Amino acid sequence: MVSADSENSMVPGDASAAATPVRLAHLSDPHLACLDDITARDLASKRLFGYLRWKLQRGAGHGSSVLAALKADLKQTRPDQIAVTGDLTHLGRPAEYKKARQWLQELGSPSQVTVIPGNHDAYVKSSWPQGMVHWTEYMTSDACRENDPKAGTAEPIFPSLRIRGCVAIIGVSTARPSALHLAVGSIGVQQLHNLATILDQTTRKHLYRVVLIHHPPAPGTVNWRKRLTDAADLQSLLKQYGAELVLHGHAHRSLHNSLPTPAGNIPVMGAPSISALDRTPERRARYYIYQITPGSQGYETSLEVRIYSPEDNRFIRENEPRKVE
Ligand SMILES: [Fe+2]
Ligand SMILES: [Fe+2]
Repeated sequence: MVSADSENSMVPGDASAAATPVRLAHLSDPHLACLDDITARDLASKRLFGYLRWKLQRGAGHGSSVLAALKADLKQTRPDQIAVTGDLTHLGRPAEYKKARQWLQELGSPSQVTVIPGNHDAYVKSSWPQGMVHWTEYMTSDACRENDPKAGTAEPIFPSLRIRGCVAIIGVSTARPSALHLAVGSIGVQQLHNLATILDQTTRKHLYRVVLIHHPPAPGTVNWRKRLTDAADLQSLLKQYGAELVLHGHAHRSLHNSLPTPAGNIPVMGAPSISALDRTPERRARYYIYQITPGSQGYETSLEVRIYSPEDNRFIRENEPRKVE
């Protein structure tokens, strides 16, 4: 799905790779449900609420045909890297984590595809061996590849850091189980502390820093029930250390916000659900291809948006590539 050639040309620390443009695709929130064999025991939790919502409302809005069209389109667009910003599953059931792993394998290898979890991936307190352990190679930092995934939990993995040519892909987890009526997320003090260190180290190396986070960090993007509880802490951290781009999911809408910093605004870009059949254009499935080009005056970022066309059952280019600021 992603270009094998570009993977090989993006060896961390390779000086020639650092001068080459990187094409990073961003997609989010596939909500890969697996409800056929659901049991009464499965539903003795918050999952009952999610199951009913899926059956009565949300399920009809997500389609496997969209994901098949995505697969075909990625074969044409061939981005160098793919970032997936959470909610891969719907109820966080063991079968859904496995289904999501298969889907990730179809997108590309673990070194080509970077994953962070969303609130639906931590829907209830799942044990690590049945859950996100299936995605470990897609989530870990470059330096952690040799670690035994079965020994850990999601916590020590994040923030993750992957360097691909001139780009530092920094993954933050906001996935926490929350109360029945809530879809909140939080980063936590330790992760924020480590994130500051990573942002500082990567800017000293003149890398282009892309922060992946499921919950939107810009104020007023989602309602209180779906908020990032420590958004203010992240905002002040980004103000201090900076970042070149923030990518998120969760809102299921196409969003373009920014966070002001003394060095300029950081673009904060939200992707809708990649499996959404929605007729409302801003909510319909889209993915984004950012081309990051290093130059003597700094980096330039351009964006191509690919939107699902229900009439043609395929993704089409929504606009001419435009500069992101
Ligand atoms: Fe979602
Ligand atoms: Fe979410």
